[in-house]
Amino acid sequence: MGTNDQLKELVRQKYSEIALQEKAVNQASCCGSGSCSTEVYNIMSDDYTELEGYNPDADLGLGCGLPTQFARIKPGDTVIDLGSGAGNDCFVARAETGPTGKVIGIDFTPEMINKARENADKLGFNNVEFRTGDIERMPVTANVADVVVSNCVLNLVPDKKRVFCEIFRVLKNGGHFSISDVVLTGELPEALRRDAEMYAGCVAGAIQRDEYLDFITKTGFVNLQIQKEKPIVIPDDILSKYLHADQIASFRNGESGIFSITVYAEKPAAPSCSCEPGTC
Ligand SMILES: C[S@@+](CC[C@H](N)C(=O)[O-])C[C@H]1O[C@@H](n2cnc3c(N)ncnc32)[C@H](O)[C@@H]1O
Repeated sequence: MGTNDQLKELVRQKYSEIALQEKAVNQASCCGSGSCSTEVYNIMSDDYTELEGYNPDADLGLGCGLPTQFARIKPGDTVIDLGSGAGNDCFVARAETGPTGKVIGIDFTPEMINKARENADKLGFNNVEFRTGDIERMPVTANVADVVVSNCVLNLVPDKKRVFCEIFRVLKNGGHFSISDVVLTGELPEALRRDAEMYAGCVAGAIQRDEYLDFITKTGFVNLQIQKEKPIVIPDDILSKYLHADQIASFRNGESGIFSITVYAEKPAAPSCSCEPGTC
């Protein structure tokens, strides 16, 4: 579907459109930015509205779990949110860190960063900061975070291994992460795998569940736990854009599956490696 840089540009363009369009348009569109009737994100996203710190302006319906609910954030913690969008998880995290903590959102789409900063200004928070940057190379110094969270972002990043290495670098020793993401079991049909809209819609860039968990342990993280797992069912009206009726039936009856998982793991208190290539 293109080089890693082309994939990132595609993702940036899609999320720039999503940041600029009205939420109502987003919710009535396909994969957040197209023009069909149902959209992938609403199929994936969990209900945030009951969480303390929830801010409707920051909720663009783009998540696929509730990582902040599982992230064991304590007052005074420094939390980093990867692919922070309009700030949805950052504001929920801020409710838990309180005024003595700090929350840093990182996103590489300038329009998302602008939206998130506007939301933080409206809320009057001076300890929620948004930095423009690629999570494959985070604009953060080493060993600063108590907790890293992320909601439905790593599937969009071509080098997931690199991102886990970066998470290891920015976490303090003994720190932890809770990440919601999309993973697969079995192979997706070819037509879904190579479609750009499905890539930007958090499906085609997802990797195998086992490979994902393997990256985490090979990076040097310990105490891995799956905190939540749920199947994602793509409605027929979206699948029919890519597959004939018989292909849809065989996809539904086959071995392959699309799942939202929330994964937790810890950086050891005394790590034996630094996650530089070849050390873990
Ligand atoms: C599906 S949205 C999720 C947004 C937010 N986490 C939420 O739940 O509302 C994905 C976000 O990740 C950002 N993103 C994707 N790839 C990225 C990368 N390599 N570095 C930084 N941000 C990235 C996009 O710009 C977009 O805002």
